Amino acid sequence: MIQVKNLKRYYKTGDVIIKALNGVSFNVEKGEFIAIMGASGSGKTTLLRILGLIDHQTKGDYLIKELNLKILPEEQRRYYRLTQLGYVFQDYALINEMTALENVSILSLMADGSKKESIETAHEALKKVGLDGMVNRIPDKLSGGEKQRVAIARAIAKKPNILFADEPCANLDSKTSEQVLNVFKDLNEKYNQTIIMVTHEKWHTKFVSRIITLKDGLIISDKKIK
Ligand SMILES: Nc1ncnc2c1ncn2[C@@H]1O[C@H](COP(=O)(O)OP(=O)(O)O)[C@@H](O)[C@H]1O
Ligand SMILES: [Mg+2]
Repeated sequence: MIQVKNLKRYYKTGDVIIKALNGVSFNVEKGEFIAIMGASGSGKTTLLRILGLIDHQTKGDYLIKELNLKILPEEQRRYYRLTQLGYVFQDYALINEMTALENVSILSLMADGSKKESIETAHEALKKVGLDGMVNRIPDKLSGGEKQRVAIARAIAKKPNILFADEPCANLDSKTSEQVLNVFKDLNEKYNQTIIMVTHEKWHTKFVSRIITLKDGLIISDKKIK
């Protein structure tokens, strides 16, 4: 489903060029749950941001279902991102003044959905992450794990081809992390959701089906584990 071919991302700061990604290649099949691992600074976030269409590569190709995303004009890229991809951030990135339901429905409203349809899909997504009893709460009245589950619901509301998550448990204790990782695992197993998740915790890898490890912008290992 995904083809990543010799992807490079260089950052230029003054006279110095940092090769954050230095030629990364791999394919992903539908239904895989992949952990991207590696030390801090190895290029994990850089890779995920490019795959999530938040950033552009310097060189190389990235295709989803045969479509080379390099050729999309900016407006179509944005629409593609909103409708086909889901992205979960470390710090939840929820809007404090809005309820869980509003936080989840806003992206589909922005993309193209009718209000009624957006609210229906938001309810459905909140149910999938086990928060159907909390749809009217604002983020301040939710625990860290619940906030992250709202953020996951927002990311899956439009049934994305691929769900990305960048260290989604970085701000959570280990018990809450386990609950959140089980939500990802359920989505993967019940709905065959393709997931690419950055983590640097070794124990998180027991939830996934494949581990790709980066070092200095290169893949040093790529292992399927079930
Ligand atoms: N916007 C940026 N400008 C310059 N250098 C950057 C930028 N973002 C990341 N880098 C550098 O790129 C390398 C990879 O960073 P990153 O992808 O954030 O790594 P990771 O997520 O694995 O910790 C690091 O050396 C980092 O300092
Ligand atoms: Mg990072």
